[in-house]
Amino acid sequence: MTYQVILPAAGMGKRMGAGKNKLLLELKGMPVLMHTLRVFEEDEACTGIILAIHPQDEAEFKALLTRYNVTKVSNLVPGGEERQHSIYNALKTVKSDGIILVHDAARPFIQKEQIHRLIATAEDTSAAIIGVPAKDTMKKIQSGVVVETVERSSLWAVQTPQAFRISLLRQAYEQAEKDCFLGTDDSSLVERLNHPVAIVEGNYDNIKLTTPEDLFFAEAILEKRKL
Ligand code: CTP
Ligand code: MG
Repeated sequence: MTYQVILPAAGMGKRMGAGKNKLLLELKGMPVLMHTLRVFEEDEACTGIILAIHPQDEAEFKALLTRYNVTKVSNLVPGGEERQHSIYNALKTVKSDGIILVHDAARPFIQKEQIHRLIATAEDTSAAIIGVPAKDTMKKIQSGVVVETVERSSLWAVQTPQAFRISLLRQAYEQAEKDCFLGTDDSSLVERLNHPVAIVEGNYDNIKLTTPEDLFFAEAILEKRKL
């Protein structure tokens, strides 16, 4: 079992409001980006990391890769306007087939065991994503009014990583570009090809750092894991 991983890291972190890319914020003295990279650096099954970065972060990111002795970043590609464009730029540089993971650089708490369960499923199904059953009651709202209570038992909150056979993901991205379709995750592009996507149950602590309060949760998770 081996895989490559695309890490989109080219956002601006607007909702975090830190005045810089949130991936440069430190958790226990180490930038968020390095927490995420460390997971893949330390996973022997990961053969290469393709990092999509914003041109304005290039110098700082490159300095961090050197300072932390990151060895597996095979390609550094410029990010695009939207997350999907950043990932497409990265995907275009991948030549081989096999399994590729897409993982938000802003989700530093993914663990090797979950990655390997996801890859094992993707090797069978060509497309697999990780997520957790919804905990809250979910309602559909229109113009400030509830229009429907959605049956919770069929709802999952989906995370990254998402794992695909490279040829399938490439086909999905090419079709999305032709159709000018913009999705909020990679699975939605594959779903449009009517290809089944398997779901693997992950952990609730695989949070994405999005808004300032997520930094408190992040510190608590690190404390619990004694990282
Ligand atoms: N990302 C990217 N290219 C973009 C936008 C986002 O590579 N054009 C990356 C981010 O760096 C992040 C991941 O996609 O690792 C998930 O995006 P999100 O959490 O939305 O991060 P930001 O776009 O940076 O945050 P915001 O939307 O609040 O500006
Ligand atoms: Mg964003």
